[in-house]
Amino acid sequence: MDAALRHDQPHAASRRALALLLLGPPGAGKGTQSHAISRKFGIPEISTGEMLREAVRAKTELGNQVKSIMESGELVPDPLVCALVEQRLSQPDCAQGFILDGFPRNLEQARFLDQWLRSQCRFEPLALNIQVDPNLLIKRLTGRRMCPRCRTIYNIYFNSPQKDEICDKDGSPLAQRRDDSEAAIRTRLQEYEAQTKPLLDYYRDSGFLREVDGDPDPPAVTSAILGLLEPS
Ligand code: AP5
Ligand code: MG
Repeated sequence: MDAALRHDQPHAASRRALALLLLGPPGAGKGTQSHAISRKFGIPEISTGEMLREAVRAKTELGNQVKSIMESGELVPDPLVCALVEQRLSQPDCAQGFILDGFPRNLEQARFLDQWLRSQCRFEPLALNIQVDPNLLIKRLTGRRMCPRCRTIYNIYFNSPQKDEICDKDGSPLAQRRDDSEAAIRTRLQEYEAQTKPLLDYYRDSGFLREVDGDPDPPAVTSAILGLLEPS
């Protein structure tokens, strides 16, 4: 990591805007926690997975390019994802801080982000690793359901809606992600081990890494994260 971005101070010591990077394996709860933190801090949550899925749904050129890659559970090529992220981060709503869910995913993307943050000078990066017992991940992924309209995330085992397969908030029928199939989950976990896990050392070496236990229920994990972000 570039020396200009190194620090060893807690986030609260900084007056710069928060650039929170959520790391963790598929099913760790990155999306669940980014919704909660975004609401609490009033800063946007930026999920590369969601942006790419939206492109697939809208059948854009990008969506058509990445559809089969995503369904297989492999990573989308770096130039496509980096361009998407750069475009999103330059929107005015990111000026006061942002949460990145699912980016960076490998060293190349991390270096790209470092460079972008350095060019802006006003952000304080913090990488947060959500650690989860590997035995819980498969149930979290196979049990996940999402509301296609409001994007609320449910789980038939851990956080089920009041009415089976129906969103509590807007009554829409819930959907399952295409990459939550057994074969794609296997590939996603392999991609995580090979490409994304090495980022933990990268951010640990830089002094940016914080870790949180992602095993307890979602509100308890949110409280632990807020405790890390706002030390008393
Ligand atoms: P992406 O959408 O980022 O998927 P992922 O990393 O595989 O992570 P998930 O979204 O599956 O899990 P999550 O950690 O968000 O967990 P969630 O909160 O939903 O990426 C998808 C694909 O897009 C990639 O495979 C790749 O093809 C492409 N892509 C995306 N970004 C890319 C990039 N940067 N570069 C290249 N390609 C990229 O929770 C999971 C379930 O568990 C839910 O049901 C939830 O209700 C439940 N749950 C959550 N927290 C708890 C808890 N504490 N206790 C009990 N249950 C819980
Ligand atoms: Mg997610």
